[in-house]
Amino acid sequence: MARALVHLTSYCDRGFRLTACAGASEEKPCPAVLPEKARGARVLVLGGTGRVGGSTATALSKLCPDLRLVIGGRNRDKGAAMVATLGRNSQFMQVNIEDASSLESALKDADLVVHAAGPFQQTNSCPVLEAAIATKTAYIDVCDDTNYAFRAKSFSNKAKSANIPAITTAGIYPGVSNVMAAELVRAAKSESKGEPERLRFYYYTAGTGGAGPTILATSFLLLGEEVVAYNKGEKIKLKPFSGGLNIDFGKGVGKRDVYLLNLPEVSTVHEVFGIPTVSARFGTAPVFWNWGMEAMARLLPPEYLRDRSKVQRLVQLFDPLVRAVDGFAGERVSMRVDLECSDGRNTIGIFTHKRLSVSVGFATASFVLAVLEGSTQPGVWFPEEPEGIAVEAREILLKRASEGTSSFVMNKPPWMVETEPKELGLGIYV
Ligand SMILES: NC(=O)c1ccc[n+]([C@@H]2O[C@H](COP(=O)([O-])OP(=O)(O)OC[C@H]3O[C@@H](n4cnc5c(N)ncnc54)[C@H](OP(=O)(O)O)[C@@H]3O)[C@@H](O)[C@H]2O)c1
Repeated sequence: MARALVHLTSYCDRGFRLTACAGASEEKPCPAVLPEKARGARVLVLGGTGRVGGSTATALSKLCPDLRLVIGGRNRDKGAAMVATLGRNSQFMQVNIEDASSLESALKDADLVVHAAGPFQQTNSCPVLEAAIATKTAYIDVCDDTNYAFRAKSFSNKAKSANIPAITTAGIYPGVSNVMAAELVRAAKSESKGEPERLRFYYYTAGTGGAGPTILATSFLLLGEEVVAYNKGEKIKLKPFSGGLNIDFGKGVGKRDVYLLNLPEVSTVHEVFGIPTVSARFGTAPVFWNWGMEAMARLLPPEYLRDRSKVQRLVQLFDPLVRAVDGFAGERVSMRVDLECSDGRNTIGIFTHKRLSVSVGFATASFVLAVLEGSTQPGVWFPEEPEGIAVEAREILLKRASEGTSSFVMNKPPWMVETEPKELGLGIYV
């Protein structure tokens, strides 16, 4: 029931400049003033009893207290605990996304559904998206799997026919990182004569980033997937967790080792913008987790790492140890997106937050609000597509998503942001 969706009419009255917005954290949150028809919209958060879904519901309640939030999950006790923290305007609904009738009845009265009940890896259908189209409910997911993302995209015509706006991969990474890439490309095209040639995503998260057990399953499942990257227009396949680089994430994080992973934003950004060379790398801390992941990718057969039930057993084995290490590792998250153009122009965006578990909620909530504000066309879109997030809606989306960041910088040359810029001599930095 996408009745509450209307076209974007209002932005936050306190704008910010994407060209220089470091220190966004010092500003107050940018509460959403939704158009009249979208106020009081009913948002169903599937996986709302988990870390990402719960954090999304919390961020929505802060950004837009008028929304009615429905927390969907299988476990009543976890649901009751979540509703108790959200307070008024929230309720729990028992839903199993593997049960079509339970799903459809949950979606019947929702204006928008957020699908955060992962893992998305090694699945072969999109039941929540299909139910959203069948019940005419707007949709976003926090998918981080390439096959799932393109499967969701294949429902675009059905969503268009049903007049339903939907965005896939709408979390922090992928999600906000795609919008950062889109803004770097837009600025490069308007400010330089060169063409975008190379785009690289670098991600760092300490420990699990305070995320739930599903993120551990996701990481292991990704280690079983060959990495898709693009080199001068050619699709290449590489070993997971190979190709290590030491990347400077700027203040508060510094230099970190990152490794290739198979992430959907590589293929979607390549497809949407036609950028010839694209890749994504990820690294964690403490450093021995990187070594552990490298060893798993090398030593365990890929078939084993692609088997969801075997991976679930691995998660049960490792979870207590991982949680114990999380206690001192913290949960800082940093994303760096680098764009190089044919005329030598090189710009980056950096987004750093002390707590992934909080930041992922603001990131996902920003997509929810953009859809409710009418920024998204009917169809299924990736975040970087203008039909997904209208170009003029990116600024407010990034503003909301960067709530609480310790550093958020866009469209700067690397030397202005890095902790140890390289000097070529005579005060010239690269
Ligand atoms: N794009 C991004 O930026 C991004 C970032 C981080 C994580 N993620 C993805 O987000 C997903 C969730 O991660 P998390 O850390 O929140 O995991 P989590 O804490 O384990 O939460 C998963 C939630 O899904 C629910 N769930 C699982 N199976 C379900 C089913 N069949 N029906 C209904 N609910 C079900 C669980 O609730 P019950 O057990 O109560 O049913 C639980 O609340 C993962 O797939 C992860 O990869 C994406």
